[in-house]
Amino acid sequence: MPTKEELKAVIDAGYASKGDSIVLGSAIFEGEPVADAHVRIPLKTLNRHGLIAGATGTGKTKTIQVLSEQLSSCGIPVLMMDVKGDFSGIAKPGTEASSITERHAKIGLPFAPQGFPVELITLSGQNGVRMRATVSEFGPVLFSRILGLNDVQSGVVSVIFKYCDDNSYPILDLKDIRKVLNYITDEGKSEIEENYGKISTATTGTILRKIIELEQQGGDMFFGELSFDISDLMRLDENGRGYVNIIRLNDIQDKPKLFSTFMLSLLAEIYNQMPEQGDAGQPELVIFIDEAHLIFNEASKALLDQIETIVKLIRSKGIGIYFVTQNPMDIPNGVLAQLGLKIQHALRAFTANDRQAIRQTADNYPTSEFYKTDEVLTSLGIGEALVTALNEKGIPTPLAATMMRAPQSRMDVLTDDEIHSINANSKLYKKYSEAIDRESAYELLNKKIEDAEGLERERQLQRQEQEQLQRQEQEQEQLQRQEQRQLQEKKRGDDEMGQVTKSVVKVLTSATFIRGAFGILNKMFRK
Ligand SMILES: Nc1ncnc2c1ncn2[C@@H]1O[C@H](COP(=O)(O)OP(=O)(O)O)[C@@H](O)[C@H]1O
Ligand SMILES: [Mg+2]
Repeated sequence: MPTKEELKAVIDAGYASKGDSIVLGSAIFEGEPVADAHVRIPLKTLNRHGLIAGATGTGKTKTIQVLSEQLSSCGIPVLMMDVKGDFSGIAKPGTEASSITERHAKIGLPFAPQGFPVELITLSGQNGVRMRATVSEFGPVLFSRILGLNDVQSGVVSVIFKYCDDNSYPILDLKDIRKVLNYITDEGKSEIEENYGKISTATTGTILRKIIELEQQGGDMFFGELSFDISDLMRLDENGRGYVNIIRLNDIQDKPKLFSTFMLSLLAEIYNQMPEQGDAGQPELVIFIDEAHLIFNEASKALLDQIETIVKLIRSKGIGIYFVTQNPMDIPNGVLAQLGLKIQHALRAFTANDRQAIRQTADNYPTSEFYKTDEVLTSLGIGEALVTALNEKGIPTPLAATMMRAPQSRMDVLTDDEIHSINANSKLYKKYSEAIDRESAYELLNKKIEDAEGLERERQLQRQEQEQLQRQEQEQEQLQRQEQRQLQEKKRGDDEMGQVTKSVVKVLTSATFIRGAFGILNKMFRK
């Protein structure tokens, strides 16, 4: 039988770290934590991604809170996708309850209540820093996905993006892309057909309808300017602690498509903006995605491939991504295989499916002489988890059933007043609070249509003037003919003078002469 001392020796050796590390808690032996058998995660390996899993109420969110606190203290900023809206309490110190101090005494760690620097970010109208992106930045592929378009419809969206690109019409918000859709089926129809091929109005009609749906779901709040600069997620406070950026997504849970597309676009943006990190001692940013199954549910094969690729590549930029979900089977294998840190809270064994999931999960963990993994999985207490990580050499650490430390910040949400005061003191809140509506596709196309209409009016006027001139010429000819006849009559020597005087007066007072003179004046004034 292995002993408590042997477990401590294995944990001490297996979780030793030359560089800086964070401490999650202490390893458990026969149901009790062994004081100072600390489970440490080297900062250097935090860009190797991770998984936090477990049934509801087993402690996943508190584990993220603990991790975020430790990271912030080490000067590593955090981005939390807060789907449930239960994470804001990290801004304020926790309260010292006896259960918490006892927990920390057993683990062998001090408990010092404290709050952390927080930014509250919102994609919609909630009180917080507004995070926006332009439709152009989103690109045709993701934009089509957010609308749930089929291949033909997505093709049309790509043409629209190309057309706007070719003509330098920025598509900033949904108003812009709606205008372009209207334009290409109406005034711009022949122009588009000539250069990009025929586009069915049924297809543009469908796209338009879906954009209106998206607007009604609050998408118009998200698309536009000022576009969020991701370097604003990497800030430290005046004490060198990393900011904990909380994106409050509780109003997006019932819109998995919006959520997953937003996630992918954000990751792509972070990937594009960040430089290669080289061999740094710690990550630039750690991202937690709570309720991660929302991203993978309903995701197409293409989207899954994209996520898998970006998870693989983003590591080299010093970004760690941590998926948080109830069942590890929610995460596709291609992604699961890339996760270095695994924190598995208790699973429940109600159904045959549950039991199979538990066996599969257990098989994915390193074997251990100290634990029967499948039994431990169902008997872990709240705030306890099976942990395995990567050591500084990238080798999996020994399995450790761990009693997690408690969050030192508040294990509850902020009040409205507290939220208000955080926003009032936030630099980012001011920077992003105003919506900007600069000249973009909407205005440019309106101008183009107006110009075209103006041109048409000008042409019409020119036609009218020409017709008038022709009429005048005809009348003049008639007059000349008349005069000639009169002259001939004069030659005939009939009562000469009287006749000539009469005809000159007739010409000078004729309507044709007056109209003709006014026509010329009108023209002079217009010029
Ligand atoms: N590390 C911990 N230390 C102290 N209490 C904890 C810890 N983890 C969980 N708890 C307790 O369990 C409750 C549920 O935890 P939570 O993280 O919200 O679960 P989950 O996110 O898995 O649904 C918390 O409100 C808290 O009272
Ligand atoms: Mg939770």
